[in-house]
Amino acid sequence: MTLLRGGRIIDPSQGLDAVGDLLIENGKVAALGPSLTTNAETVIEVQGLTVAPGFVDLHTHLRDPGFEYKEDLYTGTRAAVAGGFTTVCCMPNTRPVIDTAERVADLLQRRRESALCRVLPLGAVSRGHHNNLLTDFAALRQAGCVAVTDDAFPVQTHALSTAIQARARRVGLPFVAHCELVEFAGQGVMNEGELADELGLPGHAAQGELAGVRLHWLAWLQDQARDFHLHVAHLSAEATADFIRQLKKSKMRVTAEVCPHHLALTEEAVREHGANAKVNPPLRQEEDRRALVAALRDGTIDIIATDHAPHAEWEKDQGMLLAPFGVIALETALPASLTALLDPGEMSLPEIIAKLTIAPAQVFGLDGGTLKVGAQANVAVFDPDQRHVVDTKDLYSKSKNSPFIGRELRGRVILTIVEGNVVFREGAVLISRDGAKSP
Ligand code: DOR
Repeated sequence: MTLLRGGRIIDPSQGLDAVGDLLIENGKVAALGPSLTTNAETVIEVQGLTVAPGFVDLHTHLRDPGFEYKEDLYTGTRAAVAGGFTTVCCMPNTRPVIDTAERVADLLQRRRESALCRVLPLGAVSRGHHNNLLTDFAALRQAGCVAVTDDAFPVQTHALSTAIQARARRVGLPFVAHCELVEFAGQGVMNEGELADELGLPGHAAQGELAGVRLHWLAWLQDQARDFHLHVAHLSAEATADFIRQLKKSKMRVTAEVCPHHLALTEEAVREHGANAKVNPPLRQEEDRRALVAALRDGTIDIIATDHAPHAEWEKDQGMLLAPFGVIALETALPASLTALLDPGEMSLPEIIAKLTIAPAQVFGLDGGTLKVGAQANVAVFDPDQRHVVDTKDLYSKSKNSPFIGRELRGRVILTIVEGNVVFREGAVLISRDGAKSP
């Protein structure tokens, strides 16, 4: 038995925000209350800290198999628990691509040996990400996939969207769409506009994102299926947020996510961080950033997701034109979100925690994101007020491609518990690679 004593327990799944104790027994939440009397053998004092459900990320690139030089199941989940995440849903753009039941089974088997938290796979919508040969969604689901996606290989045609929608609704899986028409994005490496011109870099127009969402909407209009669920990945632009606000008034089931970097940064980060701020979709302008914050607050955007996308230093050192897109984000997700949302008073702490816990769990229909009695004891304990400067030496990800390096952020994860076990405490991941055994 473990008792977390005297924290501010915030669990939006049960409308809870109160100082009290949390008792964990046999890997589950056993009790919550103002002053629990127990004979727990381990008592952890958490006065002054916030106790929340472990965070749930619907968009993580773990790079395993095939790109283990960037990240692997152990280092990726090590970064996850250091960031307060206890569930991560991993993207299929690995090598080989996660596009068959066998590959899902292999990933899940290795997950049991290497991961520090719960890892749930997404399956690719097409074989090898070659867009025209669709995967067997039913088999992927049966093997354990929680959604299907075209992430990093955006669908370009109505015909393909229609085919994906028909399959996804038949098997009841959400389709996580990377919405981008490449005719707008072209060879762009950063947001299109004055700054790109000034830096002499090809631009990636925001209209491409809107056109991508419209493509899926137009395909949906053909039969207006109520049981199809479109989840729009990594929203970056004001016009797209406005369009999704309208779509939510229609009968289409659409949910959307935003990444901490799009909430906290603008294209200006490219000046300072170069390729470490190169991400797809790109960081955009202040109006876009503000519109994303407003859309998250009013529910147009349902959740915060990291799009943790590790790349090696030598890859990012190739410069803006050649470096791959992507930034690491698991360890800075909470601090970047608190800095962008809590500091300026845009959202309250319980509202922000909801976007990292129960809301993502609901989008994919997962258990988790809650501290209800009887739930798995997945817990994040953090100090929402502690400010710190992000430093590569403190990061647990194998890659260090973060646009927040050197920046002061607010909020620090102190303790992460996965199924009742303390896996991260006071800056240290407590389980070595050999000792990793995931739920
Ligand atoms: O920046 C990105 N990186 N966007 C994507 O869509 C893919 C991701 C990656 O896999 O590196």
